[in-house]
Amino acid sequence: MNRTYEPKKAPSAQKNYLKTYEHSLKHNHDFWMETSKRLDWIKAPTKSLEGNYEQVNFKWFDDGVLNVSINCIDRHLPTKKNEVALIWAKDELGEYERITYQQLSENVGRCANMLKSLGVKKGDRVCLYLPMIPELVYSMLACARIGAVHSIVFAGFSAESLRGRIEDAKCNIVITANEGKRGGKLIPLKQITDDAIAGFDFVKNVIVVHRTDAKVNYQKKDVKYEELVVKQSAECKPESMKAEDPLFILYTSGSTGKPKGLLHTSAGYLLYASYTHELVFNYKPGQIYFCAADIGWVTGHSYIVYGPLSNAATSVIFESTPLYPAADRYWKIIDDLKVQIFYTAPTALRTLAAQGDEWLNTSKRSSLEVLGSVGEPINPEIWEWYYHKVGHEKCSLVDTWWQTETGGILISPIPGVTKMKPGSATLPLFGVEPIIVQAENGKIQTEIEAQGALCLKRSWPGQARTIYGDHERFIQTYFSQYKGFYFTGDGCNRDADGFYWITGRIDDVLNCSGHRLGTAEIEGAIVENKNVAEAAVVGYSHDIKGTGIYAYVVLQKGVKASDDIIKEIKASVQKGIGKFASPDIVHVTTGLPKTRSGKVMRRILRKIACSEFTGLGDISTLSEPNVVELLIEERKKIK
Ligand code: WTA
Repeated sequence: MNRTYEPKKAPSAQKNYLKTYEHSLKHNHDFWMETSKRLDWIKAPTKSLEGNYEQVNFKWFDDGVLNVSINCIDRHLPTKKNEVALIWAKDELGEYERITYQQLSENVGRCANMLKSLGVKKGDRVCLYLPMIPELVYSMLACARIGAVHSIVFAGFSAESLRGRIEDAKCNIVITANEGKRGGKLIPLKQITDDAIAGFDFVKNVIVVHRTDAKVNYQKKDVKYEELVVKQSAECKPESMKAEDPLFILYTSGSTGKPKGLLHTSAGYLLYASYTHELVFNYKPGQIYFCAADIGWVTGHSYIVYGPLSNAATSVIFESTPLYPAADRYWKIIDDLKVQIFYTAPTALRTLAAQGDEWLNTSKRSSLEVLGSVGEPINPEIWEWYYHKVGHEKCSLVDTWWQTETGGILISPIPGVTKMKPGSATLPLFGVEPIIVQAENGKIQTEIEAQGALCLKRSWPGQARTIYGDHERFIQTYFSQYKGFYFTGDGCNRDADGFYWITGRIDDVLNCSGHRLGTAEIEGAIVENKNVAEAAVVGYSHDIKGTGIYAYVVLQKGVKASDDIIKEIKASVQKGIGKFASPDIVHVTTGLPKTRSGKVMRRILRKIACSEFTGLGDISTLSEPNVVELLIEERKKIK
């Protein structure tokens, strides 16, 4: 069934999609120069895009000067200082704390001065390993204020992952909490940080926010956030930043090697987050906006902090989980705070739908106007559930496609403008030019109906500029497969209306519960276990997570398979990456299907993991074709 829903009648600036879209491409410079006026500049730019994809060197608004924190705070103060910038929905049910723009300004000012007092300068990297508490937002904006570059690490990552990221970015300062609180559980963030930085002389200080009363082991380097911050002035002069000065680094997984630190710069990123936040969510002044992501991922960077705050919105930061204390938590927040715009991931929706519709009866959700989805393809059944049951058929539903690398949403319906088709991210936003190329040969598909690899033909301001410290890897990863285009790593279909249907990753990256994980990283963590000789990880279709993690493991000679070994293997992944990356299925076997040159045939492993035992293709080139039959027999016994 291929349903279509007409756009909701919502006032929107861009009624004539096609005309505006064509203008935005044809007069790209004018379009972005006009759009750039939504920011406050210290010196307005005269240039838009310079450079190109051939050289993999592109800049936006290069002669402009601004400060991101001025745009997110100071410029709102004359008229909105008493309006609420953040509502912190704490882990505890029904507990909220409101922070006005004036308070935000003072807290950021103090935090910025605190960083300065510890010697942080423009260009220095500061690692933020924090739970979803207001201090995380203060720290981000404090970095932006003084020109330091933040690198946020999601507080679910293990000490080893944190260590790798701190080392790669050479962060001198880490800001963490004594403990995090999530779903009633305590997470020993300070302890993890201590483990992560052991022996790192270049880390000069660890600033500890106290989320709970728990005492932690203080070391010489440690500074108590609350003690130092009160000594500071609330006023901190903002640094003048060039448009292309770095704003932050955010690590994300790729198909090979260690995580990549994508670098986003100041003006282009902020402009794009700000512009798309208003456009895609039809954000209007005074609305309460709730994005349920974690700030540790890009969604939280762009659509909890930078986009909404630059638009003077009231943004909710949610510390807990959708199931705590029960499966109506999101809906309670929506009613309590009268949320108009709600943005979450399909995996959360699937989790909630699976708990039963009665959890929708404890709330009305009548304030809602726009519902958003992000992070993975949304299956049409869940789309319909979200639209009919959660939104009572009166909300626009925006399925937003984008990536850490893109900085902001590229393909999405626009409320009141674009038809909605369950399962399709619909059409590109203005200034965005997607193309579909044939995966094998890079030929651009010119027919409207097409399928293949999704690429972008031209840059947009929010695009990541490089991989921190490794521009060559940036070129190799995104610009070498299809010359002259940015390759997204996603597969895609385009239907007869020109609507885009993202089918998921076509590289070795998994979208598991909306978290992005590289199979190579998980394999690396598994083989750290001394009992393991070899591992191959693939994705398989999972009812709740979208993609589940399936690990084939070959043990060392003489080691016997057992439940304990499987537990150990899962623990290795928790240690190496984090709990959220732990395999759903560990399939212990005796050999992997390989070509004669020793390459693991992942295509076959993927099929077997999905219990697809036919159409495995030509297996005669395998060094040991019998392995396949054995794997199939074993797979049949695993639930
Ligand atoms: C996937 C998250 C289908 C996609 C913002 C992409 C989606 C990866 C959608 C990026 C969507 C994101 N429909 N797939 N609406 N949104 N994806 O970097 O595979 O964590 O490449 O950024 O998520 O994940 P990342």
